Amino acid sequence: MNVSEIFETMDYGPAPEDASEAMAWLKEHGKAFGPFVNGKFTKPGKTFGSRNPATGKLLAKVSQATQRDVNAAVKAARAAQADWARDAKKRARVLYALARLVQKHSRLFAVLETLDNGKPIRESRDIDIPLVARHFYYHAGMAQLMDQELPDRQPLGVCGQIIPWNFPLLMLAWKVAPALAMGNTVVLKPAEYTSLTALLFADLSRQAGVPPGVLNIVTGDGKVGEMIVAHKDIDKIAFTGSTEVGRIIRRATAGSGKSLTLELGGKSPYIVFDDADIDSAIEGLVDAIWYNQGQVCCAGSRLLVQEGIAEDFLQRLKTRMDGLRIGDPLDKCIDVGAVVDPVQLKTIKGMVEGSAGDVYFAKCDVPETGCFYPPTLITGLSTSDPLMQEEIFGPVLVSSTFRTPGEAVELANNTRYGLAATLWTENVNLALDVAPKLAAGVVWVNATNLFDAAAGFGGVRESGFGREGGWEGLLAYTKPSGSTEASVKIDPPSLPAPTGVPDMDRTAKLYIGGKQARPDGGYSRAVLGQDGALLGHAPIANRKDVRNAVEAMNAARGWGNTTAHLRAQILYYLGENLSARADEFAKRLDAMIGGRQGKHEVDDAVDRLFTWAAWADKHDGRAKGVPIRGVALAMHEPVGKIAAFASDTAPLAGLATLIGSALAMGNRLTVIASDLYPLIATDVYQVLETSDVPPGVVNILTGNHAELAPHVAGHMDIDAVWSFSPSDISGVIEREAAGNLKRSWVNHGRAYDWDNPSAAPFLAAATEVKTIWIPYGE
Ligand code: NAI
Repeated sequence: MNVSEIFETMDYGPAPEDASEAMAWLKEHGKAFGPFVNGKFTKPGKTFGSRNPATGKLLAKVSQATQRDVNAAVKAARAAQADWARDAKKRARVLYALARLVQKHSRLFAVLETLDNGKPIRESRDIDIPLVARHFYYHAGMAQLMDQELPDRQPLGVCGQIIPWNFPLLMLAWKVAPALAMGNTVVLKPAEYTSLTALLFADLSRQAGVPPGVLNIVTGDGKVGEMIVAHKDIDKIAFTGSTEVGRIIRRATAGSGKSLTLELGGKSPYIVFDDADIDSAIEGLVDAIWYNQGQVCCAGSRLLVQEGIAEDFLQRLKTRMDGLRIGDPLDKCIDVGAVVDPVQLKTIKGMVEGSAGDVYFAKCDVPETGCFYPPTLITGLSTSDPLMQEEIFGPVLVSSTFRTPGEAVELANNTRYGLAATLWTENVNLALDVAPKLAAGVVWVNATNLFDAAAGFGGVRESGFGREGGWEGLLAYTKPSGSTEASVKIDPPSLPAPTGVPDMDRTAKLYIGGKQARPDGGYSRAVLGQDGALLGHAPIANRKDVRNAVEAMNAARGWGNTTAHLRAQILYYLGENLSARADEFAKRLDAMIGGRQGKHEVDDAVDRLFTWAAWADKHDGRAKGVPIRGVALAMHEPVGKIAAFASDTAPLAGLATLIGSALAMGNRLTVIASDLYPLIATDVYQVLETSDVPPGVVNILTGNHAELAPHVAGHMDIDAVWSFSPSDISGVIEREAAGNLKRSWVNHGRAYDWDNPSAAPFLAAATEVKTIWIPYGE
């Protein structure tokens, strides 16, 4: 194109970025890398090629790490951990130095990222790398504040981190910065397509004073990931990637005691109401689905547009799509770069070909060679169509319409995922009404794809669990000080031999949907007191009873929308009513457990209910200090439907803690009563009935924990399972929870201190943090 033609068309000329420094760094390393272990690159072993997806050219060879490499990395990380954990302020300086290094070498990182991944240089230069630096700055601050602000938390130890290829260095930063800040050491595996910036980062980290062993990078495919997941000397696994692999990892770590956070896929809705600023909404949509070629876990890949404006909106969208520039990612004027690898390109093509919808490809010039795919819009699909439900992970938008805000919410939530959602409207009341109703960990109002280290990011449902960023993100890299070592394995007391019959037959039933219900199976078991006297019979619940309890919880969904004030009042009332019957409960406890501790425990139970009533309206969210003109609200929302296995120690006070914490935060609960002392739970029904607890908000089952655990944890419509059971069910729960990736909080057979329960873990387990981004200004 000559100058006069440029004046004529007002088109962009080419503006290629220089790749020579990045190529020189690769050359300096002989274009072949071994894993980075204990502060050094080891010799390359069996290697595979890392290619530029825009050209197909080989950039460097990267090693497929062996079990021996992984072992060496874990060993180095373990050896370095205690020392690294010792001095938080020193860590703050190292993290600060890392942030500075990223800034000083920002162009080198950006170019290498674009070469390796295919994303436009505009994105790696202006978004990925600045956010990487921001993460290290932010977490340098967290290290600085740790001793003062988190005195009750300690590092987990060695963290195994497995990341995907869509934001190679940014995902490294999201994982490494909080881990290191909190005093953990790391073994990280980048994705096999995109290892190079992780290796560059490791190389430079030495200049920032990261001690050997604190950061180790092992490269390779999923098999190396499996080795990390299976390694016995790793305390925590943090994974970002596909839901399928997330599920495999959930199962593989079940029962191992390893902490786990999963940030998985999504099919995030992008909702446009008829009063939206349409031009802005279209620009937002370009970012939502064509940013990074749509290879973004939170991509707004499902457009929902209000019917009245749909035709106009889609027409304008097509015009905008036609103007997108696709091509050499190193060209600064390019909007859409290359898909990461021929394998991913094939996946995208395969999914779109044969689609039942109307497929529109942008009329832009697509390079003939390299992994390029045109921006694509598909309309006319049914809501159950696989393309409306499955992650395509490419530049492909699917679209449908809605009529009312209620329908928009229904459609938005009609997915197994729950990562992010975007909504556009000029009506602030509508925006703030809809945002809390969306099943998503992040909601953007009149904006999209805003990220910051101060604002938690993560999903609900099958988009995973755990948050990255903010104070909430630190929970995933710390544990309560002195925790597991201090707690002891529970030794379940054995049942006494029967000696007599009860004075009066009190037939206990299950408590489902506010009513006493006979167990579906029609079986009961005798419950004996400490002296062997028959105290009564407890029903044995089965899978059908679990299902009924879930249905009852579904029918009580309004509980989550009640005010915290109302929930507090009901919990106080529950405490008051229990207190009024204190003598009766104390006697029952004494008969069951033996001794004369009953009164003390009833007092404790009343106290717990009052404590949780107090918490109901005090677990406040936050407004995050994000660097935009606007706010990012971290809202605390209920997890939803929780099932909890009660403890044998403190059967009443423990039960009161479960009910109190779950209800206070707006959850519905099904408790599986203490195996040994079920009758104390069945006595609680009458207190629930007289305390205005709406039907279905609390359901109580009795039965064998080991038998019920797989049914409860495997139920696809329960959001979280807690276990304080003395039975060995933690592994089963974690494994079965993989089905719908429900949250699990289990004790691994260890005792819990019910005399002095700290509120923090219950608050965390009973709430989800939803980040709602609301920019200000005209
Ligand atoms: P993936 O989930 O297989 O890979 C992510 C990371 O996990 C990589 O480092 C990989 O080597 C590792 N990995 C693979 N199998 C593993 C295993 N069994 N144990 C431990 N680690 C393992 O994702 P992949 O194959 O790269 O992409 C497939 C699809 O996943 C994409 O088409 C997309 O739909 C989705 N995806 C979603 C991402 C997200 O951020 N939500 C990121 C990347 C992919």
